[in-house]
Amino acid sequence: MERGLKYVIKGMKPLKGEIEVKGAKNAVLPALACCLLARGEYQFKNVPRVRDVFCMLRILEHLGGKYFFKGSELFVDTSHVSRVDIPYELASKIRASILFLGALTASTGEAIVPLPGGCAIGKRPVNFHERGLKKLSAEITLDHGNLIAKASKLKGGEIILDFPSVTATENLLMAASLAEGETKIKNAAKEPEVIFLAKMLKKMGAEIKGAGEDTILIKGKKHLKPVKMEIISDRIEAGTFLILSALFPENEIIIRNFPWEFLEYPLLKFREMGGTIEKFDKNTVKAKRSKNLYPLEIQTAPYPGFPTDLQPIFAVLLTQAQGLSTIRENLFENRFLYAMELNRLGADILIEEKTAFIKGPTPLTGSPVRATDLRAGAALVLAGLLAENTTVLYQAELVERGYEDLPGRINALGGEIKVEDELQLINRE
Ligand code: EPZ
Repeated sequence: MERGLKYVIKGMKPLKGEIEVKGAKNAVLPALACCLLARGEYQFKNVPRVRDVFCMLRILEHLGGKYFFKGSELFVDTSHVSRVDIPYELASKIRASILFLGALTASTGEAIVPLPGGCAIGKRPVNFHERGLKKLSAEITLDHGNLIAKASKLKGGEIILDFPSVTATENLLMAASLAEGETKIKNAAKEPEVIFLAKMLKKMGAEIKGAGEDTILIKGKKHLKPVKMEIISDRIEAGTFLILSALFPENEIIIRNFPWEFLEYPLLKFREMGGTIEKFDKNTVKAKRSKNLYPLEIQTAPYPGFPTDLQPIFAVLLTQAQGLSTIRENLFENRFLYAMELNRLGADILIEEKTAFIKGPTPLTGSPVRATDLRAGAALVLAGLLAENTTVLYQAELVERGYEDLPGRINALGGEIKVEDELQLINRE
């Protein structure tokens, strides 16, 4: 039973010290499904111990896999995987469970994967995944809420994605790697996590060209082999720490394992806002803000555009900019729920259709708020640090889906965040 958690956040404390960006959750999730493409033992370094990773590991365990951690090193063994059905209880917790559809169909010829529901930020259908797998000769039917995929042998084909969907590209990359013949994926996603998956597949023996470009070419293989991989740094966590560093001009935070190369656009916007970045060595930076912050116009877009996952995070600092900022959300239809929560703290945000209008500067004062999704929760942690007095963030377990021990790491910088159980006040009579 997932515990309800709340974070009790004391605001207005300047933060000083070092913080380290951990491995990218959204690189680990497809990598775990990829462990089904070749039975055997895998090793992953730099794995974040977050709820989404544990959820995917629980699914692998259900299928017959085994795993154990040694610190941030993860060992996975899929030698005895025998099942092809993903349990609803686990799949409904994480949309990335759809990634097992491609890997199971390709490796066993069959997959039973619950249709992932929508979530707070949008409907999030999986029609691109289905359509792509059908192009590879899989038969997919929907039965009692489960996607049933069958394919004696997947055959290569040409797929054009309506939208450069990250997990659809990842699903099809995995499926095509074991299909007969050649597959072309056009309008493919270019995210660093997609490139990481292609790198893992190539190390396993797959033949892939063009990962990170519009069109990816895959020549299917009969067999692949297990590998060891080092997970790339989490660019969304790094972007979160960029804004954390800039909450107050007095903050002095050194960020380690900072993946510059994945954050070109957010860094451009950060500088435009009045942020400065000092580079120490390859991946060590210090970010500061000027006294005055300037308003921004942000449009979210697929990589290398401004990442949708960072718009709630930037919005927090934009409440302190001198003037009107706009954020246009082009990927998800409902990704502004956090704005109402920020307004409870004293922000002045108006939502019109796909655009948030943020008037600043507005002093923020602590109040009870609720996390609506992972990145909204992270944004509200930052807002609580910025606000005076105390902010209580409810449903904080959502933050732990993607950030390992965020309160502990912020407290190590001089913050004061207490983690408490959220009492289930309304129980059955
Ligand atoms: C990935 O989700 C990330 N999750 C998300 O991060 C991220 O916000 C998103 O990409 C966009 O960058 C993982 O990588 C596990 P999409 P994904 O398919 O792949 C529509 C986080 O906080 N679409 O690129 O599900 C969809 O509705 C999470 O870590 C279809 O219509 O996103 C959306 O509007 C949140 N049909 C758009 O495409 C489909 O079959 C982009 O979605 C698939 C997607």
